[in-house]
Amino acid sequence: MIGKAREGDPVTVTGLGCHVPERVLANEELARLVDTSDEWIVTRTGIRERRIAAPEEALSDIALPACRRALADAGVEGADLDLIIVATVTPDMAFPASAALLADVLGASKAAAYDLSAGCTGFMYALAQAYGMVAAGLVEKALVVGGDVLSKILDWDDRSTLILFGDGAGAVVLERSRSGGGFLGFELGAEGAGGVHLWLPGSGSRAFDESEKHVKMNGREVFKFATRVLVSSAEQVLAECGRTVEDVDLYVPHQANVRIIDHATRKLGIPEEKVVINVDRYGNTSSGSIPLALADAAGDGRLRPGQLVLMTGMGAGLTWGSALIEWTEEVGSA
Ligand SMILES: CC(C)(COP(=O)(O)OP(=O)(O)OC[C@H]1O[C@@H](n2cnc3c(N)ncnc32)[C@H](O)[C@@H]1OP(=O)(O)O)[C@@H](O)C(=O)NCCC(=O)NCCS
Repeated sequence: MIGKAREGDPVTVTGLGCHVPERVLANEELARLVDTSDEWIVTRTGIRERRIAAPEEALSDIALPACRRALADAGVEGADLDLIIVATVTPDMAFPASAALLADVLGASKAAAYDLSAGCTGFMYALAQAYGMVAAGLVEKALVVGGDVLSKILDWDDRSTLILFGDGAGAVVLERSRSGGGFLGFELGAEGAGGVHLWLPGSGSRAFDESEKHVKMNGREVFKFATRVLVSSAEQVLAECGRTVEDVDLYVPHQANVRIIDHATRKLGIPEEKVVINVDRYGNTSSGSIPLALADAAGDGRLRPGQLVLMTGMGAGLTWGSALIEWTEEVGSA
């Protein structure tokens, strides 16, 4: 799916917030749990540490502070929200949706609220959906949340996946823009045939062995897929919107692995200083990854109004998704 923003009032991000659990798990500590080393993890992934949720913390607990920050940043009350979409593969439970639980706590009594599952690409899919609803006039104020607590579904004896993932969440508020700018277009896709390369077999209605309850991954296949789609999706959305790589001021890729990001930025020809990287501190937080990176860039002054921002996610499904936005307001200060 590919599409340009429609004519009329643009839709933009008016608030941004993120949250990570307190507990820091450094590579050295992981090396005491499984047969790995700080040196191996840093060389192969660029990850140094990640955050891990407490046993009693579920997705909605991690997401709630991010939502509150995004709402405060936008100057929007929970009661004003028309829509809440939570992109996650680790909801509190299969149902009710974490979005509905969050709507209740936030006092968003008139909001439609549902979860969306598109692996680590979930936030990009959710952005596109919310964009569509705001642009069509169905919704005025939307809260889009991306977050995961993958630590809860990992096999803590499997070094190939354990080292990669961390917990965290981010949220944005979407509204019509009063000052131009905003989203220019999206490109989303899925290749179900590759689904078995990154999956959680025993998590739904299909019968699997009792042992199939954890994330399973074919790292090399996912690596090849990731490097391919990060480039093709970015190129497609830029072309659709009549922009070039040279126009991009800030590139916010899914934070899976520094080597994957380096490969994509080299192929695309985006200079290092325009690339947001925080995978070293958080690992791969799945749906939380892109909003966390946006919040980091806003926090250190790298994300500013007027900039053309390219975001591309990829993950389980296998799925991918890009968005191009002209950043509008001083968000991210809450
Ligand atoms: C997982 C990943 C880091 C592995 O890196 P790699 O360079 O492909 O490494 P390989 O899988 O080829 O393994 C190389 C060796 O390291 C070993 N190894 C694997 N994990 C290890 C670990 N945590 N510590 C130490 N050694 C490890 C392997 O057993 C293998 O040993 P062998 O050569 O004796 O068989 C890499 O494939 C990757 O990042 N893939 C994408 C994963 C991803 O991003 N998933 C989420 C997408 S949203």
